[in-house]
Amino acid sequence: MSKYFITTYGCQMNVHESEKIAGMLREIGYDEAASYNEADVVVFNTCCIRDTAEKRAYGNIGALKGLKKENPSLIIAVVGCMTQQKGGAEALSAKFPFVDIVLGTNSLDQLPIILQNKRQKRTQIALHDDPTVDLSQELPIYRTSGTNAWVNIMYGCNNFCTYCIVPYVRGRERSRSMSEVVQDVKTVLSEGYKEITLLGQNVDSYGNDLADGTNFASLLREIDKIEGKYRVRFMTSHPKDFNKDVVDVIASSTHICHNIHLPIQSGSDSILKRMNRKYTSSQYLDIVNYIRSKMPDVGITSDVMIGFPGETEEDFQRTMDLVGKVKYSNAFTFVYSPRKGTPAAAMEQIPAEVKKSRITRLVKLQNDITKSLSNEYIGGIYEVLVEDVNPKYIGTVCGRTDSGRLVTMPGTPDLIGSFVSVKITKSRSASLFGEIV
Ligand code: 5AD
Ligand code: SF4
Repeated sequence: MSKYFITTYGCQMNVHESEKIAGMLREIGYDEAASYNEADVVVFNTCCIRDTAEKRAYGNIGALKGLKKENPSLIIAVVGCMTQQKGGAEALSAKFPFVDIVLGTNSLDQLPIILQNKRQKRTQIALHDDPTVDLSQELPIYRTSGTNAWVNIMYGCNNFCTYCIVPYVRGRERSRSMSEVVQDVKTVLSEGYKEITLLGQNVDSYGNDLADGTNFASLLREIDKIEGKYRVRFMTSHPKDFNKDVVDVIASSTHICHNIHLPIQSGSDSILKRMNRKYTSSQYLDIVNYIRSKMPDVGITSDVMIGFPGETEEDFQRTMDLVGKVKYSNAFTFVYSPRKGTPAAAMEQIPAEVKKSRITRLVKLQNDITKSLSNEYIGGIYEVLVEDVNPKYIGTVCGRTDSGRLVTMPGTPDLIGSFVSVKITKSRSASLFGEIV
């Protein structure tokens, strides 16, 4: 049997797209390989949001040159966001002439047919598609994420934050219909998944492009009506669109987790303005306060970026102040990296050593906050969905609280997929440890 090996870079959206690639390949008779060496087809599903992800993909693709030489019948495909950048597909083909297929995100559904043609003709295919074209919705999915199933609710982004490449490579917002999304949720629940994560670049603008008046709050309300014991999470929210209706629906729901990822990016109003984020730090704090007034047990997480062009020490201090005030349960911290073709890439950049000092201080602050919030869990009893064994500690399993915190406890693999009550006994940085009660 022919085998595939997929390497994924970037966000959950990409991880889920790799599940669709696997689904398509399995439908035409491929099985998963344990490594590159055993594969007949290697797929790199790339990301270009930051230069770190891009560099990693470049390194890994380049490393396959030797393998391709040894085994010329190996097919190497590069798909995803890097191919969607202006000139990206052409640049990839030029840099890696041994790559067989270069395919844009919105043409993923063509992979099986291209692969079948490829086997007969052996010609290089570079396909740079139009990001405004709708991605085929009905691709088979080979889910790899254990107890959690991802469901796309929309594709693309209209926001054009000045640092971000996503709107250029993923095109404009396209919402799936509420009935399709609800049907998908029902299907994965009937397959036994216990947690659904709704995916979109900006889930709060769900429905803006639909004519039937649906919005994210009404979608959540509809999903929450589905019977059964399960959880719903979603990402990513945009503070400019995250409104009280959504908070109220979550607070009064049965299934929607009290866990909100609400990226601030910067605590400085002048930087936020130049990022085109369309909210101020005080508007952001108002939303956070409203969320906490309705859900005192909520876990709020964030993306925080340092080193945006022109960021002064004072701007950076505002970010530190805001992070200190909000007390995120966790935050993804990023060093700004210029993305070709975005407005911020043309602005005056700040020196690498300044960025390094700022990211170090920010990471330390957030680690201290996460650690002290972890301590607050000790002694409490929380419902945890067991997701996996924890390979770090023999005889343990791990899962998340409703608020999104990772908990490890003694247990056996048969618990995976069940909800258990756990008493937290100790914490170490972001990790909590406990016992099933
Ligand atoms: N440089 C660094 N971080 C970026 N992000 C998006 N674009 C860039 C960039 N050019 C971060 C933002 C976003 C997260 C997914 O990635 O914080 O929320
Ligand atoms: Fe990028 Fe901004 Fe869209 Fe998020 S909302 S994907 S940061 S442009």
